Formats: sequence, structure tokens, C-alpha cells
Amino acid sequence: METIIGKDVEVAANFLKKGKLVAIPTETVYGLAANALNKQAILAVFKAKNRPQFDPLIVHTNSLEKATEFAKIPAKLTLLAKSIWPGPLTILAPKSDKIDPLITSGSDLVAIRIPNHPLTLALLEQIDFPLVAPSANPFGYVSPTSAMHVANQMKEKVDYILDGGICNIGLESTIISENDGNLYIHRLGGLSIERIESIINEKVQLAIQNNSNPQAPGMLDKHYSPKTKLQIVADFIDLNLNENEAIIAFGNTPFPVQENVLNLSEKGDINEAAHNIFAVLRQLDEQSFTKAYIKLLPNIGLGLAINDRIKRAANQ
Ligand code: TXA
Ligand code: MG
Repeated sequence: METIIGKDVEVAANFLKKGKLVAIPTETVYGLAANALNKQAILAVFKAKNRPQFDPLIVHTNSLEKATEFAKIPAKLTLLAKSIWPGPLTILAPKSDKIDPLITSGSDLVAIRIPNHPLTLALLEQIDFPLVAPSANPFGYVSPTSAMHVANQMKEKVDYILDGGICNIGLESTIISENDGNLYIHRLGGLSIERIESIINEKVQLAIQNNSNPQAPGMLDKHYSPKTKLQIVADFIDLNLNENEAIIAFGNTPFPVQENVLNLSEKGDINEAAHNIFAVLRQLDEQSFTKAYIKLLPNIGLGLAINDRIKRAANQ
């Protein structure tokens, strides 16, 4: 199958209307999108990603009004959605009958969000159905943050790649639910806990799966993994790197700039590190390093979500 990379929203819309797969840019990561109301198209998404059907998909739409057709969004999350959407927030809420259980892996809850990217919002304007869109990477691998990342691994699997440049945020959306008035975070992501708490003016709780038999394998201990072995260290000082090994630094380092020192953000900016983390993990494989060393980042803002991805990527 010949893949076309382009910026043509109408072409993308036409493929989706025919039940085909289109990679779409979002502010978080690229998604592998298909018509969420077309069972064959949904099945094709699982197949293209080599993703088990017990790992549910996020539904993407472009208005809160439409979102409420598919999910019964509780009060506090409605407030949060009004403040954040379009943005890196995914709401987990009771699904309506319009959502095929295939999308939710049989759960009564559906995950739904409005992504914030001008091309994808324009695309959603041109179609009259929502999109399922998991990250556009093979199951278990690092999420794509550019059209080239998608093309490198998925070009035979998609019909069109809508090129929206490099993803602004660079980490997947934060997944949140509300139960009895309490808010629970199911996946740390591109919307920080601090920001959520400042909007709703109360504390949220972490409900993140950390075992090997999760309800949601996005939360598997081992995920987001490059082929290069990644090891978390407390300090780089004692390392004796050979030429096949790399360091992933953050901020000022005592190392000279050289091929095997990659930096998430030379100025030590957490948001910049979020923006770069997945590209840097891919770079390890592209440069065929056998091993890389990394230190966890400060646990503030998006640092929490970055550290979550680093730990999963490092899990053997
Ligand atoms: O930022 C994002 O959310 C990106 C972009 C493309 O929107 N999408 C994304 O999708 O990260 P994916 O499929 O790679 O990760 C979605 C994760 C699943 O692995 C699962 O953990 C969780 O969301 N999820 C989806 N639906 C769920 C449900 N009904 N119940 C529990 N977890 C769910
Ligand atoms: Mg994913």
C-alpha cells in the first residue's frame, strides 16, 4: 500500500469516510485514527498496531456537546473539560450505546477527548463521526511525535499521514475519571496534576495500574520501549561509557557535547524535556546504541509523567 504524507485535510477526511486509517497530528502524540462508528475500521486499527483487543481505544471528537453523545460526563469533569478542551485531557466516563464495546474492550466506561491541533480539528469538522485513535506506533513501542516517526514504522499500515509537524506537548493525554465526586488519574500525561488541581480547586488521587495484569495495558510496566536497553541511574559520574552506549541528560552537564550525550533540555526545562523525550528514545534505536543511561527528572509538573514513561521504557 502506498502511503502519502501530506497536509490535505480533505484527503484525510475522504479516507476516513471510506473506513480507512489515517495518522493524525495532535498536541500530545500522533494518533492512528479511524471511524469510531465503523466496526471494521476499529478492528483495522487494532490489527495495524498489533494491539490486543483487551486494550481499549480513546475516542476523539471536537465539541463537548458531541462528547456528551458518547459519554455521560460527570459535573467536575465537565468543568475541567470546559477549561482544558481542546487539550491533553482524556475523560473516562460511562459510555452511551453509540460506543461499540470493541472500543472499550467491554468496559462500561469510554475514554474520550478533544485533541488540540488545527489540522485535526479541521478534519473533525469535515466528518460526521468521532475517531478512535491510539498512538500511531506498533504496540509497546515509543509513541510518535512527528509524521516521520509514523512513516518510519507504520507506513505500510496507514492510508494517509496528515502531517501537522512536531507535537507541541510530546506526551500522551492525562486520563482522569470521577467517582463519588472524587477525581482519579489513570495515566499521567501532558496535563499536569498541578494544573488540574488548580482548576478544580481540590486534590486528585492517583489510580495508576502498576502490575503486569492491568485492565489497561497502556499502563503495563513495560511499554514505550526502545530496542536499546535503558538503565536508570542515580548519577552519571561513575559511568565508563563505551562507544555503543549513550547518556540521556537533562540540563547542564559536565559532559562535552558529543554523539553519545543526548540532552532532553539543555536549559533544564521540563516542558521541553516532555517535548523531546520520545524523539530521544527513538534516536537511541536510530543510532543503534546498545545501552543508554538516564536519570529521573524532578517530580514536578510534567516531570511526573516523563518519569513514568522513563520507568516503563527501562523496564525489562
Ligand atoms: O494523547 C493521547 O491520548 C493519544 C492521542 C493520539 O490522542 N492517544 C493515546 O492512545 O495515547 P493509546 O491508545 O496509545 O493509549 C490509550 C490508553 C489505553 O492504553 C488505555 O490504557 C486507556 O487509554 N484507555 C482507553 N480507553 C479506556 C477505557 N475505556 N478504560 C480504561 N482505560 C482506557
Ligand atoms: Mg499508546
